[in-house]
Amino acid sequence: MRIEPRSVVKELHAFHPAMPDRTRSELRQMLGREEIVKLSFNESPYGPSPKAVAAIQAAAGQIHCYPDAEGKTLRTQIASFYTLEADMVYLGNGGDETITLVTQGFLSPGEEAIIPQPTFEQYAFAARLAGGIPVRVGRGSDMRTDLPGMLAAVTPRTKMIFLCNPNNPTGMLIRGAELRSFLRQVPEHVMVVLDEAYGEFVTDPAFVSGIQLLAEFPNVLTIRTFSKVYGLAGLRLGYGIARAETVSLLQRVRSPFNVNCLVLAAAISALDDTDFVASVARRNSLERERLTREFTVLGFKVYPSQTNFLFVDLGFDSTGLCGSLARDGIIIRPGTGWQLPTFVRISIGSSEQNSLLLAAVKKALQEK
Ligand SMILES: Cc1ncc(COP(=O)(O)O)c(C=O)c1O
Repeated sequence: MRIEPRSVVKELHAFHPAMPDRTRSELRQMLGREEIVKLSFNESPYGPSPKAVAAIQAAAGQIHCYPDAEGKTLRTQIASFYTLEADMVYLGNGGDETITLVTQGFLSPGEEAIIPQPTFEQYAFAARLAGGIPVRVGRGSDMRTDLPGMLAAVTPRTKMIFLCNPNNPTGMLIRGAELRSFLRQVPEHVMVVLDEAYGEFVTDPAFVSGIQLLAEFPNVLTIRTFSKVYGLAGLRLGYGIARAETVSLLQRVRSPFNVNCLVLAAAISALDDTDFVASVARRNSLERERLTREFTVLGFKVYPSQTNFLFVDLGFDSTGLCGSLARDGIIIRPGTGWQLPTFVRISIGSSEQNSLLLAAVKKALQEK
């Protein structure tokens, strides 16, 4: 006899890794080559802070003990980093879990979550898992997030709005003035989840973080991650910042030991190593300018990125180029997942990786 799952689970699909989602060792086997340059996951090519690694080594002898269920030291440190109180911070097993915690905590079955397109797919998944209804709003002009369209999509059933700033996959920023004007028009009972997974890479002074906007807009919840600029993707740590009242409700939803003791130790040191973070962001920004310039010269349309990846319209179907790069051991993400077959999303690698990428792209174009 089959045990019936919840009806919503019947509509979900397990994560089926395509080529860009494969691990480096799988890619080595699949492609029959040792050197793999994986530019499909927006990971940091600079690795973690050596201080974070040392903290993990120091904590390793204690892994027989449960971690601090409240994550007090780290939450206090994150809070003081932004001059907030620790009860305004909650921790998740990756930014991914901070998102599912919000929908589990606040989205009731049948309630709507407005989600722009294209964006990070996890919002729609989390909304559906909670029994909510993702309401997708198509892209605005020139791939921008269609903020007026999102406001127009608000109904009495709307409970939540997701915004990714800067956005994955476009890399583009919603400027502070635009964001403020949008937030003023959102009904107060609708939660605005601002995902700033790439916030540390932003160099445009027009950026305003949701963390700064919280005093003005108490319905904003901001998500950040240690997976990108901090280079700790494999450890899985994200955090959310919201009003203490919101966070205390999310603490009811969270399982007590969702963040392990090695993560807690590493993140405390990683957050402290501000020189390392600044150097990663600076190197990313230099390479971002370089790749943007070089791809533009090649005739591609490059969207202005404020992240550690570029969204590029090749002007022709991307399958051939992606295949040719893969044969050279370079993995990028085709735009087919966003129904944009002439697009690719390319993570910004180290200077050396980007030189290999550019050489391989030029070679592929000549052979085309
Ligand atoms: C926009 C965005 N938000 C959140 C995440 C989640 O990251 P993690 O779960 O590794 O913290 C990602 C990861 O790629 C992302 O692109």
